[in-house]
Amino acid sequence: KKRIFSGVQPSGNLTIGNYLGAIKNWIPMQDEFECLYCVVDLHTLTVRQKPAELRQRSLNLLALYMACGLDPKKSTLFIQSHVSAHAELAWILNCYTYIGELNRMTQFKDKSQKHSDNINAGLYTYPVLMAADILLYQTDLVPIGQDQKQHLEITRDIAERFNGIYGDTFVVPEAYIPKIGAKIMSLQEPEKKMSKSDENENAYVFLLDSEDAIMRKFKRAVTDSEREIRYDVEKKPGISNLISIYSATTNKSISEIEKEFEGKSYGDLKEVVGQSVVETLKPVQQKYNEYSANKDYLNAILKENADKAAYIARKTLSKVYRKVGLVPRG
Ligand code: TYM
Repeated sequence: KKRIFSGVQPSGNLTIGNYLGAIKNWIPMQDEFECLYCVVDLHTLTVRQKPAELRQRSLNLLALYMACGLDPKKSTLFIQSHVSAHAELAWILNCYTYIGELNRMTQFKDKSQKHSDNINAGLYTYPVLMAADILLYQTDLVPIGQDQKQHLEITRDIAERFNGIYGDTFVVPEAYIPKIGAKIMSLQEPEKKMSKSDENENAYVFLLDSEDAIMRKFKRAVTDSEREIRYDVEKKPGISNLISIYSATTNKSISEIEKEFEGKSYGDLKEVVGQSVVETLKPVQQKYNEYSANKDYLNAILKENADKAAYIARKTLSKVYRKVGLVPRG
């Protein structure tokens, strides 16, 4: 069976971008592949976090994973910091990653502009920890949104470099990026990616937003001065984004949607897309409320799943330690 690994940072509330670009695609993979889905808490430390909030958000993210349809009986759902091999492999891989490669990472450039008062070494080596996450499990396929593509490429480069020096050690993973939904744009500035940390709260829709908030945000979505409902990312980024969201939530094709809205107004489109998002999120929100209330259950899952993940991770780490010349502990 092919192995799948992916993760989300517990750095804030999740948006429909995280859902449509990533988590939604993780669900069907559970029946076909061996899947590990991680709450990547170590990555969030690259930006200052409030400790009590981070702790809460990590547990809540597990509840949300399950509410979205991830099943701890089918998949390994765990928290990154519970498996120490992530940090240990990251150190080794740091020594096989060139600073020239890290200098080219666009997410580092963006984040260091945004957090210019705290450009720490962790922010810089963030992609190496991500490579460790993936390579530890001999992952074949990594389902992610468009913005993580560059990080997957550097992961492949690191794996190939290491394999080139020491012989086959890591599976070289491939990205799985969905055709629709891989880049959900801001509802306010549709040339920009939808992000949970946008200052304008009308720019994003959270998975846990109320029906009223969702409808209001779609009604206020920025479009253009024409009237025609047509998919054209260059000329009509706002309308194209709404069409993408509708397509990703209903599985209707772009051309079906264009036909459905022939002669209709932008207002009609916003209403229908808003409703479709509300309907998609309703069951997720209901289940989330059940799961997040049951902390003992969540903690039990985390313990069992961390043990499973650690077992696989340890095998890879031992192999790597041996190959680079570290003395095994007797
Ligand atoms: P993060 O937490 O920023 O986002 C989680 C996932 O959501 C996708 N995504 C989007 N997809 C479509 N449209 C958007 N507007 C949008 N915004 C976010 C992201 O592409 C991602 O798939 N570095 C990663 C977390 C990570 C990871 C890993 C992922 C750490 N280790 C190993 C895969 C494998 C991140 O910050 O994702």
